[in-house]
Amino acid sequence: MAKSALLKSSLAKKYWMALTGLFLCLFLIGHLLGNLQLLSTGENAALHFNQYALFMTTNPAIKVLSYLTYISILFHAIDGILLAIQNQKARPVKYVMNKPEKNTIWASRNMAVLGTIILIFIVTHMVSFWARMHFDKNMPLQTVMINAGGMPQEFYLTTDGGYLPKAQVLQGAAVIKNRTEFYDATANVKIKEGYKDLYKITVAFFKDAKLGLVYTILYAISMIVLGFHLYHGFGSAFQSLGVNNPKYNGFIKNFGKAFAIIVPLLFAIIPIYIHFFIK
Ligand code: HEM
Repeated sequence: MAKSALLKSSLAKKYWMALTGLFLCLFLIGHLLGNLQLLSTGENAALHFNQYALFMTTNPAIKVLSYLTYISILFHAIDGILLAIQNQKARPVKYVMNKPEKNTIWASRNMAVLGTIILIFIVTHMVSFWARMHFDKNMPLQTVMINAGGMPQEFYLTTDGGYLPKAQVLQGAAVIKNRTEFYDATANVKIKEGYKDLYKITVAFFKDAKLGLVYTILYAISMIVLGFHLYHGFGSAFQSLGVNNPKYNGFIKNFGKAFAIIVPLLFAIIPIYIHFFIK
């Protein structure tokens, strides 16, 4: 490829990486705000988190945002890898040897490696939670123990704010269809709908007797990696988009650095809190 064409395609890639990267930063804020509910200790903590999860998986506008997120992750990752290969090929060996650490900070020289680790994190993370929420036929439904007539009984919590005795399902009076719907077994009509217990599987994941601590440590390390990636990426995205105004440059740089520290730190606190403090 001619040098100018190479430069052009590399600029286009940077532009799209910047746009998708900034969109993913917005996703991170939304995802963080939702997940911070896992720090709640109230007696309805599980119900509130499961209500939030139901909203996030069924609301049409959120669904559109979710698809945009998946596309952005793929686009950002593929473009990033192509750009790294292109830069590697185009760069004269001498330049690499020319004490790059003097010119660029560590994170900026390792964006592709940091990004690849984050991609591995996202894929394994989605297998652990998102895939279970969307595809697992054995995803548990939320239940609660209530003292009924002096006897503790297990009830399904239902989306109309009511309860359905688990015994009804066990005895065949009600059946579960489409994973969350309760049907009257004789009349074959839908009577109520339950909540997928995302709270339960998230807490169980980080509190797992064998691997909970390992997962918690791996999550915390991944958040450090995310922090470094954002530390360079945030400011760099604005440069790639051509935002270069002395009035705002300082603010963007500082905001990016604060974002890169605060957001991953708050994310990391969640598994640490679940593992060590939730009973
Ligand atoms: C460390 C704390 C985190 C926890 C406890 C957590 C928890 C979850 C849970 C429970 C889900 C399933 C929700 C659903 O499918 O409705 C989910 C989905 C997801 N998570 Fe996380 N997450 C964390 C951090 C992150 C980070 C740092 C990223 C990105 C770098 C990320 C990316 C995603 C993506 C892309 C999805 C799929 C979202 C969608 O379907 O719209 N998560 N997460």
